This record gives sequence, C-alpha cells and structure tokens, in this order.
Amino acid sequence: MASEKDPATEIQELTHRINYLNHQYYQNSTSEVSDYEFDMMLKRLQELEEQHPELRMPNSPSQRVGGTITKSFKTVLHKYPMLSLSNTYSEEDLREFDKRVRKVVGDEVEYVCEQKFDGVAISLTYENGEFIQGATRGDGTRGDDITSNVRTIRDVPLQVHGKDYPELFEVRGEVFLPLQVFDQLNQEREEAGEQLLANPRNAASGTLKQQDSSVVASRKLGCFSYGFQCSPNPFDTHSESLQAIQKWGFKVSDTWRKCESIEDVLAYINEWEKRRFELPIATDGVVVKVNSYALQEELGFTAKSPRWAIAYKYPAMSAATQLLGIQYQVGRTGAVTPVALLQPVLLAGTVVKRASVHNANEIQRLDLRLGDTVFVEKGGEIIPKITGVDFAKRPADSLPIHYPTNCPACGTPLVRAEGEANFYCPNDRDCAPQIQAKLEHFISRKAMNIDGIGPETIEQLYNVGLVHNVADLYSLSFEQLIQLERMGEKSVNNILQSLERSKATPYDRVLFALGIRHVGSTVAKKLAEQFPDIEALRGAMYEELVAVNEIGDRIAHSILEYFRDPDHLQVLERLRAAGLQLKSDATPLVLESDILAGKTFVISGVFQSISRDELQHLIISHGGKVVSSISAKLTYLVAGDKMGPSKLEKATKLGITILTEDQFLEMIA
Ligand code: IVH
Repeated sequence: MASEKDPATEIQELTHRINYLNHQYYQNSTSEVSDYEFDMMLKRLQELEEQHPELRMPNSPSQRVGGTITKSFKTVLHKYPMLSLSNTYSEEDLREFDKRVRKVVGDEVEYVCEQKFDGVAISLTYENGEFIQGATRGDGTRGDDITSNVRTIRDVPLQVHGKDYPELFEVRGEVFLPLQVFDQLNQEREEAGEQLLANPRNAASGTLKQQDSSVVASRKLGCFSYGFQCSPNPFDTHSESLQAIQKWGFKVSDTWRKCESIEDVLAYINEWEKRRFELPIATDGVVVKVNSYALQEELGFTAKSPRWAIAYKYPAMSAATQLLGIQYQVGRTGAVTPVALLQPVLLAGTVVKRASVHNANEIQRLDLRLGDTVFVEKGGEIIPKITGVDFAKRPADSLPIHYPTNCPACGTPLVRAEGEANFYCPNDRDCAPQIQAKLEHFISRKAMNIDGIGPETIEQLYNVGLVHNVADLYSLSFEQLIQLERMGEKSVNNILQSLERSKATPYDRVLFALGIRHVGSTVAKKLAEQFPDIEALRGAMYEELVAVNEIGDRIAHSILEYFRDPDHLQVLERLRAAGLQLKSDATPLVLESDILAGKTFVISGVFQSISRDELQHLIISHGGKVVSSISAKLTYLVAGDKMGPSKLEKATKLGITILTEDQFLEMIA
C-alpha cells in the first residue's frame, strides 16, 4: 500500500508518474488513467507535501494548480534582451527584406515562417533540465519574475524530457488565453454583471500578473514556444531548435514551415491569412526568420529588432461608427492631442469608444465633422484610429470642428513649432494636466519605477500643493503625507521607501524620467553612454549631440532647450542633492595597448574561444576600430566558423588580410 512507503520515495514516484501522465495528456493527447485516478494521485501528492513541506520540490506537479502568493514581482535582468520585430503590411516590403538579407549573406538563404501569436511574450529559463525562471518581457532588458504563475501553465514543461539538453538555456514563447476560454470567461462575467474583458491578449497579460497563482491556474493559459537561446548554441538552425524543444516537452505550434524562397514565404502568408481562424489563439500575422543561426549572426540587429526577421501583419480590421465629439488632451510635454469620442462599436473582439486622431492636420485631412460616420481601424498594438469618413452618410446638420487656439486646461494660447504637426501649451510651470503627466511619467515603471505612488496620489499631492515638480517628490516628509486624506501610516511608509529605493535608479533611466521632449528610453541610453554624467550632457554642443548615432536635429534642439531653462537646472540640482544617480556607473573602457591603433576590423562568423562581444571589446581596448562592412579601406577581416560566403568572397577580391581567431589573439598577445 502506498502509505507504507517512506514519504520521500512516494513523493518521488507520484511526481514521476504525474509528470509522465501530464506529458501524455497535454503533448500527446492521450490519457492512460481516468480523470478520477489522476485527481486522486495529485491529491495524495498534495497531502504528502503538506505533511512534509521540506520534501516539496519547487517544480512539483502540484504547483500546476497554484497556491503561491506573490506580493510584488521581482525584477529580473534578461540574459538575452527580448527584442521586438520590425513590422510590415506589404508584399513589397517583404521582397525588400529578402533583398537586404541576400545582399548581406548571399543567395543560399532559407527562411522559417511562423504564426505571429497575439499573446504575451515570455522567457523561460532551464538549468539542468529544471524550469527555474519565467519572466515577462518588461522593457526588453528587465522583466517581472512570474515563475510561480508560469508553473501553472501546462504547455510549459517543469522538467525537460530526454537527456540531450544543454545545462543552461532559455526558451521564448507566447502565453495566451485560448479563445474558447476567453469567450467562456466573458459569458460568466456577463451573467455576474461584471465588466467584460477587453480582448484575449489583455486578459492573458492581466492573468500572468495575478498575485495568486491558483487564479492563474484556473484560467488555463496556453503557451506556444518559438525561440531558443543558449551559448554556445548546440544547433545550426532555428528549425532544428524548434524540433528539439518540441521533443523536450515544449508546445510548438506545428504551423511553422521552412521556405526556400520569398515566393514560398508569400504562399505561406496567403494560406494562413484564411486558415488562421482554425487556431486556438488570435494571430495577427506571420513572422519570417532566417533559418541559419550563423547567418542570423551575420545579419545582426538594429537598436530594437533583429535584421534577420520581420513580421508581416495582416491588414487591420475596420468598423464604421459615429463620431460623437472630440476631446483635447494635454500630455506631459504640453502637446495637445485630439481624441475622438465614438459611439461604442465592436472591432476585432474589442469594444472601441475612443480613437486617436493624432493632430490638427489630421482633422483637416480627413475633413472630420461632428456627427459623421467614420471608419475606425485597429491593428495589433495600435490604439484604434480614424482612417476615413463615409461622406454619403454625412448628416445635413453636421458641425465643423474648430481646433482650440488656447490650452483647454489652463487657457494659455497654444503654439506650434515650425515643421511640427502638434500644438503645444507652453505653460509647463502651471498647466495642471501637463505637470501631473510629467510626474506620472517620472514615477512610471520604465522610468524611476516609484511603485508606492500611483496617478491618484500624484493628483492629490499636486492638488494640495505639495508637489509641483519632480524634485518636490524627494522633499516629502512623513508629517506632510500623513495629514493627507485616505493616507495611513502604511501607505506613507510605502511612498517614502519607494522614493528612497528609486535613488539607486541608473543614470540612463533618470535621464528618460526627466521627460525631455523626444528623449525616449533608447535615446536616453545612447546619451548616457556618450555623456557619462549630466554635466557633460548639459555642456554638450549641438555638433556633439548630432554626432551621436540615432540623435538628429530635433532631439539635439530639444536637449539644448531643456538645459537652457533655469527652472530645469534648479530641479536637477535638487535631484542631485537628494542623491539620484546623475552619472553612469559603467566602468570606462581601459585602453590596454595601442597596438591596433589606426587599424579597422570586420568580425564575421562564430568563434570557438571567445564571443563576438569579447572580440569587439579586445579590438577596441587595444586601440583598433570595429566596422560593419567590408571595403577596400579595411585592414582585417576576423573570420570565424560559418561565416557568410559573400563576405569572404568580397574580402578575398579586395585583397584584405583575413585573420583566424588564433591569429588575432596572437597579434594582441
Ligand atoms: S520571435 C527578436 N516569433 O512578437 C524576435 N515573436 O514583435 C523575437 N511574437 O515580443 C520574437 N509570435 O511576443 C517571435 N512566432 C513568433 C512570434 C513572436 C508572436 C511576438 C513576441 C514578440 C513580438 C515581437
């Protein structure tokens, strides 16, 4: 009898058996036992784990049913950044993509086409075959650790099957709420008189952030895996890795296909444009990836996305509805944006009540009038937008729209900078929505991540006159806060602690948090690299700013203008006094020698003893320069394994010295 066994052995046996049955059921769609028998086994396991908590394993199948409560999710740094994909809607762009790829890697290129699943990206880490971490994409560099919630997703193996897996690897995939579950949940909500879930993607994303993992388990999320990250990578191609991870127990949608040419890619897209509704999850397009990892490496990345992949998106779905009014919103930079208020309409599974109109020009261009029947479109991430007017339906009494000449919030006359489509309210000192939006941006996750304060608290702090600019936040005291309405000791301490914690936020994020017009998080990172402290940035001249990659005229002017304002300088001084990070903590590159001075290098292929990044670092730290393309002026090509044939050919033709990894290392030894 089972209960006569020692508990450790019984737990182990049950774990084994349940894992096996789960795999059979979820991956192979077969069941060897009745539901009742299965439930009894799971129940027995839970009982044993309750009696002997020291024997509970983190990846026990009992974790599938959840029960862990996470108060706040830890932030984790992604070992490999989670990038996005460049998008296209046209065949022409796809052909251009193919041409670009062939130009770099030659004609021997094979693609893999996959569905673009419309869910939530996830990164899954495995060590010695055990699932050890599940993380959200976050800002691509840092995400939330949602491991216990991910453990409840049956399509994610807790223990990898087989033996031939690397010690440490990551799988990337898309978590989704199956359409059927989504419909069922909404039906239940409707019956209970609750607010309906807007769309499956938001529902999946909300579910993953639940504090109670048993709620997550009850939602029956699915996960399609589509990526593999490991260094060194044991596979040569993406398709091999898809086959391997499937064998290891990951759910890979069998809709992917190898394509030999761009014509094959287009055929796949056409086929799936119709067939995509057969799938259990919403898809919004097709992802095209270069199959060979070596060629992927040749092609490399732009700041945000790989050059070896592209997403083709199906045309957006559109609906017609009535334009009821226009609301003017004042953003954190003072930009006034019109928002269309619509007669609610169902569009691609979401009820749409508002749509963006972008700017004043757009109202004229579309010839919008109040009461018009308008077309709204929605595609993937984008907020619905008005794309046209059904003039045949224009009512006789429709009213023209007069764009305001003064700020709808503070009455200040609006200004429009030359060449800009937006009107701005220049009153950044006293215009309430503008200041509040600046403060909200400052505290937001991607900026200072001050999670003890939310938008309502910002409004309250502003209304009572305690906070007028971002530096005021750091002067708040316990005594001031405790006097506020609805504010208890606990929330006050929470606010003060999260302000204190935020002082360690790295310099590039502080730069982003300042809300300098046109300085987004990518630009802020670039600025922090080039100007290692705020003084250097403040002193930078126009020419120095535009010399930085990705920084153009518009951004440079905006930075110069920001530092010209004495109020801003005073705020910065107070932030410095409060202890915020206003300089980079990255150790500057130490020049080890100058033996490579004046020499230029192209790195290509995969290397045995060092990574490409290390190689690049070595070249720079010995005074050399790394460039991306081969020209007659190039000094050396450092060639690794699997380098693209076209590069080799070009270098040979131009008579460029080709170095092996060892020859290069000898050179600097
Ligand atoms: S590959 C660097 N493959 O699309 C490329 N992404 O815009 C990494 N997505 O965040 C992504 N289906 O959430 C890839 N078959 C697929 C995908 C897919 C959906 C999502 C993913 C990612 C976003 C990129």
